[in-house]
Amino acid sequence: MSETVPSATTGSFVRVCSLDELPTVGAAAAEVDGRIISIIRTADGEVHAIDDTCTHANVSLSEGEIDGCTLECWLHGSRFDIRTGEPSGPPATVPVAVHHVKIEGDEVFVALKTQGDSTS
Ligand code: FES
Repeated sequence: MSETVPSATTGSFVRVCSLDELPTVGAAAAEVDGRIISIIRTADGEVHAIDDTCTHANVSLSEGEIDGCTLECWLHGSRFDIRTGEPSGPPATVPVAVHHVKIEGDEVFVALKTQGDSTS
């Protein structure tokens, strides 16, 4: 799957879905400003957003398994910390982008993190 990453992002929050549309624990893919991201809810009820494409071989991470704050890619088992995007288990070595999440009432909003934006 190829992905077109915008050269610049607005950084503004856009509504992505309601909490009811997310699995109780798990991930769902969504498109924000033309970019496919994975919206993840953990067992603790936290919601995170990361790029949906595994940095190892370009498959959808939203089809992976959630274990605490770790997402495991379904294809080769790479593990990513969904809070930082850093790979915590091989074979992936490149982090995935992590985006800003805001919950208002029952609604999930995401602001894409621009490249070079290290704030969380
Ligand atoms: S495609 Fe995700 S670990 Fe290989």
